[in-house]
Amino acid sequence: MTQNKSSAIMQQRREPHDSLDYFPTPPWATRALCEFLDNRDYDVTTETVWEPACGGGHMAAPLWEYFAFVYASDVSKYDWLAPVGEQDAVCDFLIDGVCDVKHTDWVITNPPFRLAEEFIARAAAVADVGFAMLVRSAFLEGKGRYANLYSQNPPSYILQFAERVPMQKNSLNKNLSTATSYSWLVWIAGEAPLKTEFLWVAPCRSRLEMDRDYPDDECAEAPGPMLAAMGIDK
Ligand SMILES: C[S@@+](CC[C@H](N)C(=O)[O-])C[C@H]1O[C@@H](n2cnc3c(N)ncnc32)[C@H](O)[C@@H]1O
Repeated sequence: MTQNKSSAIMQQRREPHDSLDYFPTPPWATRALCEFLDNRDYDVTTETVWEPACGGGHMAAPLWEYFAFVYASDVSKYDWLAPVGEQDAVCDFLIDGVCDVKHTDWVITNPPFRLAEEFIARAAAVADVGFAMLVRSAFLEGKGRYANLYSQNPPSYILQFAERVPMQKNSLNKNLSTATSYSWLVWIAGEAPLKTEFLWVAPCRSRLEMDRDYPDDECAEAPGPMLAAMGIDK
């Protein structure tokens, strides 16, 4: 049987209801967001960020390069995750009071697709300065999503990647290609934008990608949040 590789089909990416939907983000895509924030004079160097669906830490690690402190948690116990002080790093972001992060300036993540709207609502409730979600660009469509989200609380920025951000289930792979398009959606707290600003993320992969982003052994390098989890300062 021939596989149907039409992009319409490939963008559907259906997951079983109880799937963790673990698609690690290539770190350069997170650096692109941090560069955007820096260019717009959002000084995050003194701020905290919570990556609440951190998986193997591939987004948390580059966030650590820009922010003063990164909390990393996930509903599933990934090998590298350990408590930060009193904070249990294994917790469900969507259940109020379960994750013990007392205060965070930002929430930044690549949420499980089927729970993205719930993640946005929760991030809006807990982030003091802003939050950003990496989503498939197809997430911008949908009558229900328009009624429940975009018409009520549109993002301040939509950052559409001009180049593809290749992701696959369960592991990071430098040599992938993909038919799926991704965007960052960014909300700045306290701003109810009259107009959402739509911008392209210019091609930046070759500049922002680093060798250390693809260790052979996922736990071979200790990313920043892992150091923090072990109580080691930056
Ligand atoms: C698309 S992956 C993103 C992983 C990581 N953020 C990255 O970008 O590399 C989604 C992650 O969400 C986690 N997850 C699913 N449901 C969750 C929940 N209710 N609370 C916290 N994490 C959840 C999964 O375990 C998985 O690691």
